[in-house]
Amino acid sequence: MGVKSFRSADWFGKSSKDGFIHRSWMRNQGLPDDVFDGRPVIGICNTWSELTPCNAHLRDLAERIKRGVWEAGGLPLEFPVMSIGESNLRPTAMLFRNLVSMDVEESIRGNPIDGVVLMTGCDKTTPALVMGAASCDLPALVMPGGPMLNGKFRGHDLGSGTDVWRFHDDLRSGKIPLEIFQEAESCMSRSIGHCNTMGTASTMAAMAESLGLTLPMGSSIPAADSRRWALAQVAGRTIVEMVFADRKLSRILTRNAFKNAVRTNAALGGSTNAVIHLIAIARRIGTPLTLDDWDSMGREVKTIVNLQPSGKFLMEDYYYAGGLPAVLRALGEQDLLEKDALTVNGKTIWENCSEAQNWDTDIIRSFDHPLAHSGGIAVLRGNLAPNGAVLKPSAASAHLMRHRGRAVVFENIEHYHGRIDQPDLDVDASSVLVLKHCGPKGYPGMAEVGNMALPRKLLQQGISDMVRISDARMSGTAYGTVVLHVSPEAAVGGPLALVRDGDFIELDVEQRRLHLDLSEQALEQRRNEWNPAELPFYGGYQGLYVQHVLQAHEGADLDFLVGRRGLEVSRESH
Ligand code: FES
Repeated sequence: MGVKSFRSADWFGKSSKDGFIHRSWMRNQGLPDDVFDGRPVIGICNTWSELTPCNAHLRDLAERIKRGVWEAGGLPLEFPVMSIGESNLRPTAMLFRNLVSMDVEESIRGNPIDGVVLMTGCDKTTPALVMGAASCDLPALVMPGGPMLNGKFRGHDLGSGTDVWRFHDDLRSGKIPLEIFQEAESCMSRSIGHCNTMGTASTMAAMAESLGLTLPMGSSIPAADSRRWALAQVAGRTIVEMVFADRKLSRILTRNAFKNAVRTNAALGGSTNAVIHLIAIARRIGTPLTLDDWDSMGREVKTIVNLQPSGKFLMEDYYYAGGLPAVLRALGEQDLLEKDALTVNGKTIWENCSEAQNWDTDIIRSFDHPLAHSGGIAVLRGNLAPNGAVLKPSAASAHLMRHRGRAVVFENIEHYHGRIDQPDLDVDASSVLVLKHCGPKGYPGMAEVGNMALPRKLLQQGISDMVRISDARMSGTAYGTVVLHVSPEAAVGGPLALVRDGDFIELDVEQRRLHLDLSEQALEQRRNEWNPAELPFYGGYQGLYVQHVLQAHEGADLDFLVGRRGLEVSRESH
């Protein structure tokens, strides 16, 4: 060790004025002479913030990573990037995913960093950090913060998000009083960590693990479990070894790695948000991955993980049952895993999971007794979504998978809020709720409003699901027969913009079809009459975003951020 020259030597290894400046200022942190002996410098990219409750424990976890880095002979240097928490940040954390990725990319490239640990947790923090690091293409390891323990309420378990939607519907329909709704609040979130359902945070951590970017079990151990601290220490040792082996992201993020992630998502009944994020990550590193790949690669994979929102249990139960390694092993035994895919610890994914145990076959089921036969993501096409739309079959209702209904149209989210509970709204259980102008540009950030709450009068009749269609996203903790990410979106003149109240819409998930029952001639006439809704003026970052954001099927990245730019710095500073 120490013979190999790393990138950081260009800062700390010189005897010139530059070397003096780089070392001298670092010494104010009490660093001894020998840390500048050419050892690898490990950046610890931290999304800690008290405004991101899911990541509020990451400073403690970073200390464990540092222990491992020191042990392995590296120099750990922690740095913050913007933290985007789903529960507080307005209008939606997704608006800032690309901004954070820029923060990460430039922080890595501009600093003396040889390898990086990406500390993630809440939903968008995982894709944002991986996207930024992918554009740099250096050795990088993801260390997720882990999920919260099960919520506990009046003798029952409570799942983050999923039970909020359920309680809210019960409150609106009069099934429960406000006191119960309020009492559940503290019971649901009772430990450190991110959402404890298979929502977007758990899904994206699992995507990172199945891509080979975390150590085994990295996505499953609860945040409050001491085994996560131990894993963080090992992660610190591993990243140093990765730098010596030059095991950089482009060696890990191969087409086979993405195949594994897409199939894993199907087996988990994971979040639809993963579709957008993985496409964006793939485009950063330069590995081909399209929306249609999501359908073709994942179609034959059944959902075997019985976790909310598709199933019953929560992340804590899932860890005790065997966690992701048990799922990966099950995929491998069905020949649904690209076994040779490389992972951060230098082993193949199969070497990491082939001995994994499944301790509870009700939580992690077998492929012979799955939770849902049609797992994966259904990619729908038709005259309503020429560039595709997605639906999660495992979270949808079987009786609505083939459906024809009359559209009830909301021009935007404000129109929806003003209209949905009007007593005279012409709607019944067979109607199709259509929400426009919530795509990447129409509602900058593409808000998670696609799982629109049903009209109160239908809830009171006991209706619990309807077909809903929009260009929005949906929370990974949500459920229902919800068609999302319609592309092109209404704001850029996609056919969704042309739908009117009373039109008939056909959904056929088996045939992957989404059709507006209008002749091409009638559609053309509406297209000619269509006037784009005036978008508000957005200044600052939001203005940049609206100008440059790509459509959902392209990963909703900013057009100028797509691609791998490496680590070359254009100029030295002094
Ligand atoms: Fe942060 Fe759900 S709100 S993971």
